[in-house]
Formats: sequence, structure tokens, C-alpha cells
Amino acid sequence: MENFTYYNPTKLIFGKDQVGQLQNEVPKFGEKVLIVYGGGSIKRNGLYDQVIKVLKEKNLQLFELAGVEPNPRLSTVHRGVQLCKEEEIDFILAVGGGSVIDCTKAIAAGAKYDGDAWDIVTKKHMPIDALPFGTVLTLAATGSEMNSGSVITNWETKEKYGWGSPLTFPKFSILDPVNTFTVPQDQTVYGMVDMMTHVFEQYFHHTKNTPLQDRFCESLLRTVIETAPKLIEDLENYELRETILYSGTIALNGQLQMGYRGDWASHNIEHAVSAVYDIPHAGGLAIIFPNWMKHNIDENILRFVQLAVNVFDVETTGKDDKTIALEGIEKLREFWSSIGAPSRLKDYNINDENIDLMADKAMVNGPFGNFKALQKEDVVAILKASL
Ligand code: NZQ
Ligand code: ZN
Repeated sequence: MENFTYYNPTKLIFGKDQVGQLQNEVPKFGEKVLIVYGGGSIKRNGLYDQVIKVLKEKNLQLFELAGVEPNPRLSTVHRGVQLCKEEEIDFILAVGGGSVIDCTKAIAAGAKYDGDAWDIVTKKHMPIDALPFGTVLTLAATGSEMNSGSVITNWETKEKYGWGSPLTFPKFSILDPVNTFTVPQDQTVYGMVDMMTHVFEQYFHHTKNTPLQDRFCESLLRTVIETAPKLIEDLENYELRETILYSGTIALNGQLQMGYRGDWASHNIEHAVSAVYDIPHAGGLAIIFPNWMKHNIDENILRFVQLAVNVFDVETTGKDDKTIALEGIEKLREFWSSIGAPSRLKDYNINDENIDLMADKAMVNGPFGNFKALQKEDVVAILKASL
């Protein structure tokens, strides 16, 4: 292992009927509360009414920012920052999925900065202060509820970047599996692909002696693989939703990645694709990740063999390492297809027209990826294989 420091201050409140906990948590931070949410799912499933009722009972002054887009946009961050400054907001409550939470993080940091919040996203300015915020999560996917990362899209310039700061961990996150019952099948699948890919991104590294971390990763993957087919047939099953909700948080709250650095190149490529085409994040990952694997299979083949055997139960007798590794990748592709994830860019009507542009966007900070540092020609090859 490498030396590491683990820091995660988010209070996780997990389980049934926990929205009432807002009454204990929110007043600690002040009276003027900005509620941030997306395109209306929380109004349709009743969560909005529950949250408002609980907060009103505490006589808090409530403000709202509605309409955060999937792949949240800088323009929405600007609206939120302006509201926070004008109304002197004390606390922000994100009620939604990763996009709502990521947007809230940018608003929280932007509200304490005199310049443009885009400077924070592009890392020209390191935040030195941020408004406190909490979350009520409604979709199991990104892990944003218990990490400090945020991904924001500038739709004018077609750029999408991740950023983070120790100041942008949620103060608390409330995770009730019931609040994920209404997530439609396609978004449920995307969420599971996203959390699996977060584990894969971390699993591919060259650090020696990480047996416990490997088994954590493998267990999480096996759990999602076992649960996913049942969940898509039974979207309101509490126990299945609970398993997936917990898996999504653990996949990206820093717990798996202790003592080594993950790769994260596929996320970088996907962010470039969705910056240009605005496709769902995990739809892009389902297409790109198996091609990243094939492209880098010789980098450390035993890692791919270990995954094939320990996660996908590939039979090894009489086969060489490459055959086993490739079978593992094929099984991953088959599994994602079996639950309805896309496998080619053409599933989103994307052709080869903008490959060079997407590769340039991915390369904006130079070669990237800790398992294998990708050059532009690698990115182009992975995108071409994804067509
Ligand atoms: O906007 P509403 O109406 O709420 O609908 C949303 C949205 O259309 C809907 N939804 C959410 N909860 C629902 C629901 N529909 C019915 N019932 C519910 N309970 O689902 C749609 C997608 O929501 P979104 O928040 O966009 O999905 P997700 O959580 O997958 O977030 C994706 C964003 O997170 C970024 C991605 O790049 C993308 O922008 N990521 C953030 C990360 C992080 N902060 O750590 C890491 C990830 O790798 C990822 O890059
Ligand atoms: Zn992701």
C-alpha cells in the first residue's frame, strides 16, 4: 500500500422514515435555507411536500432553486450563487440525485467567492470557504452524497469538469431507500453501471499488497451483479433498493480507495463525450469502460485475470491469461447489456464526426489515467472502438 490519510466528515443517516431528521440537522446551521432540486421528480413522488412540511415546523425561512438539469449546468450554478448572495442564505439543502448535489456543491463554494464559480470548477481558484449544505438523496449512483466531488457542465463552451474541495463534503446526507422507489428503470440501470464503474476505476492500479481493498471491491461488484437483475424486475422492493443505495455510497466515499490511487481515465473520457452530446453519464461509461479495458489489457494482465475469476467466475482450466482476461471483459459487457445498458455510441446516435474534438477536450490537462497514462491517440482509439 501507499501511505494515506482518510478524511470523510459527512454524517450518513440511512434508512426508512428519516426525513424528520432534518429538524435536528438543519437548524444547527442557521435559519435561511435554500432548497435545491431538479426537474420535478420530488414533486411527483411527494418528497418535496414532506421536506417542506418538516422544515416549516421549525419555522425556517425557505427559498428554492428548481430545475437543476441532469449534467448540471454552470448557468444554474450562477442562479443559485446569486440567490445565496442576495438572500444571505445560511444553509443549502439538496434534494435529488448526483446532479442536484453536484450543483449544490458549486453553489456552496461559489456563494463565498467574489469571482465566477467557473473559476472554481476549472481549478483557477481554490475555495477558501463554502456555505454548509446537506442532502436528501433520491437516486443511487454517484456517491456525491458522501464525497466532496462535483461535476459541472459549461454548455456554452461544451466543457464538463470534475472538481472538489475538503469544504464541499455534505454536512449530512439522508438516504431512505423508499425515496428511490420512483427512479425509472433506465435511471436505475445507469446508477448501477455508474457505481460499478467507480469500483472498476479504483480496482485498476499497480500498487502491491491491497488484498483487503481488492476484496472490498470484488464484493461490491458481486453484490451489484447479484442484485441488479432482481431490482429491474421489482423497482419498489425495499431490500433491493437498500442494497443498491448502500453500494452506491460505499463505491465512491473514499473507503475503497485507501492506500492506492485509482485510474479514472474512463470518467475523464466520458465527461468529454457528455460535454459534447449531453448523454447520461453512466450510459457513456457502459460504452467506454469495456473498451478502455481491452485497450489496456496488457498493462497488467493479472489484474484483469483476477477480476475475471473473482467477480465473473470465469473458468480458467486450459486457458492462457489473455483468454481469461478477455472472457471477463466479455462477461461484463454481456451483464450490462442484459440489464439494458447501452454498448455503442451509436445507441445515442453519435458517429465519428466529433471524435477529435472529444479527444481534445479529454486531453485538456495533458495525458491522464493512473493505471495507464493515455495520450490523445489512445483516447481516439478507445472512442473509435466505442462507435
Ligand atoms: O431532475 P429530476 O426531476 O429530479 O429527475 C432526475 C433526472 O432526470 C431523475 N430522478 C432522480 N431521482 C429520482 C428521479 N426520478 C424519479 N424518482 C427519483 N427518486 O433521474 C434523472 C437523473 O438524475 P441525475 O441526478 O442527473 O443522476 P445521477 O445521480 O446519475 O447524477 C449524474 C451526474 O453526476 C455526475 C455525472 O457526471 C452527472 O453529471 N457525477 C458526479 C460524481 C460525484 N459528484 O462524485 C461522480 C460521478 O462519476 C459522476 O461523474
Ligand atoms: Zn461516475
